[in-house]
Amino acid sequence: MEYMEKVISIVSVDEMDRLAEKIAQQLGKGSIVGLAGDLGSGKTTFTKFLARHLGVSDTVNSPTFTLLKIYQGNVPFYHIDVYRLEQSGKDPTMDDYIYGEGICVIEWYPIILAQLPEEMLTINIAITGQTTRILTVKGSGRYEKIVETLGN
Ligand SMILES: Nc1ncnc2c1ncn2[C@@H]1O[C@H](COP(=O)(O)OP(=O)(O)O)[C@@H](O)[C@H]1O
Ligand SMILES: [Mg+2]
Repeated sequence: MEYMEKVISIVSVDEMDRLAEKIAQQLGKGSIVGLAGDLGSGKTTFTKFLARHLGVSDTVNSPTFTLLKIYQGNVPFYHIDVYRLEQSGKDPTMDDYIYGEGICVIEWYPIILAQLPEEMLTINIAITGQTTRILTVKGSGRYEKIVETLGN
């Protein structure tokens, strides 16, 4: 599948918010966003911003101990964190959300990569300083054009 990849440097939480806003404007029902990066890199922070820009008014918290949280925004918003699945690789109950009606954000997506479609948006976050991050954003298929709009 064709894909587009960009490496984007940001220097602040605010810049993360603006990136989330730009992406949120281009997502719709059934969109899937995978997030990766070390603990504290900003996966949940990005998810909170994304949710807010998608009309979620409830506070989005890290679902690390619950696997899945469902919010209501402009469309349903599913926040999944598979960190605790460790290397088990698959969780069949997740399919309803991954292939569901809402927008699905998955923290630590590489753990369930085998269960995910090739056509999705992924953001890998590297910590380079206290507030600086390098984001590798990759979009396959219909997500290619989203990546084209990001960065410089
Ligand atoms: N540019 C940035 N983007 C995202 N988070 C940042 C940035 N700079 C500093 N932070 C801080 O880093 C922390 C990221 O935590 P969190 O989003 O929970 O990470 P993760 O979910 O990846 O473990 C937050 O305290 C956030 O305020
Ligand atoms: Mg998190």
